Amino acid sequence: GTSGGADRYAITQREASAEILPGVTTPLWTYDGTFPGPTIESRRGRPVIVSHRNELPVPTVVHLHGGRTPAASDGYPTDLVLPPGWQDHSMHTGHGMHDPRAVVTELTRDYTFPLDQRPALLWYHDHRMDFTAPAIWRGLAGLHLVRDDAEEALGLPAGPRELPLMIADRAFAADGGFAYPALDPTLRVRPGVREPYLAGVLGDVILVNGAPWPVHEADAARYRLRILNASNARHYELEAVTDDGRRLDLVQIGADQGLLAAPVTHKLLPIAPAERYDVVVDFSGVPIGGLVRVVNRAGSGRTRDVLAFRVVRKAADDSRVPGTLSADLPAWRRSEAVRVRDFSFRAGRMRGDHGWVIGGLPFDPARADVTTRLGDVEVWRLIADVHHPVHLHLAGFRVLSRRGGPPLAHDAGLKDTVSLRPGEAVEIITRFDGYRGRYLFHCHNAEHEDMGMMANLEII
Ligand code: C2O
Ligand code: CU
Ligand code: CU
Repeated sequence: GTSGGADRYAITQREASAEILPGVTTPLWTYDGTFPGPTIESRRGRPVIVSHRNELPVPTVVHLHGGRTPAASDGYPTDLVLPPGWQDHSMHTGHGMHDPRAVVTELTRDYTFPLDQRPALLWYHDHRMDFTAPAIWRGLAGLHLVRDDAEEALGLPAGPRELPLMIADRAFAADGGFAYPALDPTLRVRPGVREPYLAGVLGDVILVNGAPWPVHEADAARYRLRILNASNARHYELEAVTDDGRRLDLVQIGADQGLLAAPVTHKLLPIAPAERYDVVVDFSGVPIGGLVRVVNRAGSGRTRDVLAFRVVRKAADDSRVPGTLSADLPAWRRSEAVRVRDFSFRAGRMRGDHGWVIGGLPFDPARADVTTRLGDVEVWRLIADVHHPVHLHLAGFRVLSRRGGPPLAHDAGLKDTVSLRPGEAVEIITRFDGYRGRYLFHCHNAEHEDMGMMANLEII
């Protein structure tokens, strides 16, 4: 609904079930009964208030990924929304460590999103400390689109030819539920037993908007695919292949934080967890009846297929992809940076067990890792041992370099998540703009995040 200059939504987090695989009932944790949760569409600069009520058996936290959000509504991992009847008011964070800075515990919570930001595909998901990965895996994820007039005036494919695609892999247990090894209590208590899923949890079924390997009936026309990799740990390398083996152009028009300055054409598009790519694909040259398969070159067997388009009819198409898409992309220069910081993302120890650490330290909500001033421009040098998709809250950034050389083609635009490949050093530049308060940066391999690879970013 709309009131008082803000759009208001109410979402109940509750258990539900769905028939995802034919004949199989899968229990879920949901936002309002569905997986993914309801898609919210907003206008740039028009505030949205989402009232979340928690009826799940565990505390939750809501984070709007990619949102320029005041800290109080950003979903800090200990700012819990408690389920009814939750008795533990001592604010233990799940591992017996008291967190003196946890302040908010409520049964229903209003999250306020000003959305004073570039139009983009954002997503909301759970962010509770130590428990983000299993909560997302069970279904706590949804899409939130921000739009504005300038983007709509470009003439990009729209209406039924604009498709948000939330891609997420899942494994199914014999009882029909999503199989998650970390929920086995024997895997949580003994040192060393994290090893089987230390790299992150993968599934062998690829879901797109909650459906396995969907086939979408399409016109012989341009489509705008707004792709989100909502997988916990799986990386994809997407290509669009026709029946006769042709690879269609993937014309990238946007990144995590909205439109590029100009389109960039790919044949193969790598996409790490939490990254978004806004891509136009033209089916006009595909014969009627033809199939275009979107495949994952990084997968094998069942995980090689993602989704497909069956081109079923000829159709008029007045959409276009302008050569200039946006003029408001920030272009911070290295010389503007008041500080350069180095962060290593590596395997390490967390509470006596195997884990993942940033700069040698596992996440601790009571420690200030980075303190910066509102408005400062900084360069961050990120170094990885294995693959780590690194995400900053609040601040969109540009990729400055990879391995000491120029960024890759798909690093274009304003991002909030950058994929560090094994052994790689990546430099990013940003201005810490928007709000003061306590934010986060972390690896968005959700298991790595839960196993310590997260740090505090304090903007003063
Ligand atoms: Cu998508 Cu801190 O998260
Ligand atoms: Cu985020
Ligand atoms: Cu990681």
